[in-house]
Amino acid sequence: MWAWIIGISAVLIVLFTSPIWVPILLFTTPFILLWAGIIYGILRLLGLWGTVAKQGTRFYDWLFFKSDKPRKFLWQQFYNFLCWMFPQEEWKTMNYGYAINTETGFTIYLDPEEESERFSYQLYHYMATGFKKIPNLNGLKVLEVGCGRGGGLAYVLKYLKPASAVGVDYSKQQVEFCKKTHTGHNINFVWGDAEHIPAEDQSIDVVLNVESSHCYGNIKAFITEVNRILRPGGHFFITDFLYENDLAAYEEALGSTEMKLQEKQDITDNVLLSLNFDSKRRSRMILNRTPRLLHPILKRFSGVEGSNIYTQMKSRESVYVAYHLVKPKKSEE
Ligand SMILES: C[S@@+](CC[C@H](N)C(=O)[O-])C[C@H]1O[C@@H](n2cnc3c(N)ncnc32)[C@H](O)[C@@H]1O
Repeated sequence: MWAWIIGISAVLIVLFTSPIWVPILLFTTPFILLWAGIIYGILRLLGLWGTVAKQGTRFYDWLFFKSDKPRKFLWQQFYNFLCWMFPQEEWKTMNYGYAINTETGFTIYLDPEEESERFSYQLYHYMATGFKKIPNLNGLKVLEVGCGRGGGLAYVLKYLKPASAVGVDYSKQQVEFCKKTHTGHNINFVWGDAEHIPAEDQSIDVVLNVESSHCYGNIKAFITEVNRILRPGGHFFITDFLYENDLAAYEEALGSTEMKLQEKQDITDNVLLSLNFDSKRRSRMILNRTPRLLHPILKRFSGVEGSNIYTQMKSRESVYVAYHLVKPKKSEE
């Protein structure tokens, strides 16, 4: 009797929920590959593949680089996922790096433990020294927005000797990673959003922002926040890649507060050089440490030679720019 009741109930449950489960099963690996193959074949046959691929890329660009809330959410999930995928503490930086046009591309001295991520540290050095013009940050309070895995901020603390360093990031996983990986009484990491920076008004001497602003939903809100937390006379160093077309709007946002532009540098060529020197290491990391299914998407973001971002910078569809802004002292206003 009970066997019948359980059997009939199970059949009813399967029948009622089949509209959900059948498509899920069909579209789950390995079926997803089969379906993708069939859809790809049909589109090729109909001569529609080119149009669909183009629209797909445009949608992807809008989602990750132009949308407001979706972009913010997607990048947060992407970095949480990346941190879960790569828990290894030896990977501490996530930017495309900076090199100069010499045989080695080297610009700074580094201890052996930092050598493998040299070019990313070189970008931090270039930015935090105001394009190699400020020798150190002695006695200053530094806050980095979008600190990622914390290596860059730890570099700044070790070599440029500020009084304290605080890293803020929107990915909770990464903040936990930073707290575990970089310890010390004058370095700290907190979860927070660039558009609502967790710091008091006029409490910071130097705000650092490295390759993070392309993830923000509202760049003007971020710049307003930087201006709020900087003390008068404080410095704001920001660098990132963006589409050439978006440069004017980006610079308008940078100029939307009382902060004054001190210097601007186009470092696209230096970043490309860094990627040339570093492509093999970056590719190895992806190939050795991630499932094959993820290689195309991770390659796209990695910046290795031939990747989307590399090609766009090479053709200057995208540029990598760096800015030094200063908040005027009261007497200078
Ligand atoms: C390409 S990584 C760069 C990390 C680090 N600056 C570096 O160079 O190694 C971009 C970082 O920005 C962070 N981020 C994205 N959106 C953010 C937001 N709204 N507020 C704060 N951080 C954010 C991401 O979580 C990620 O860690």
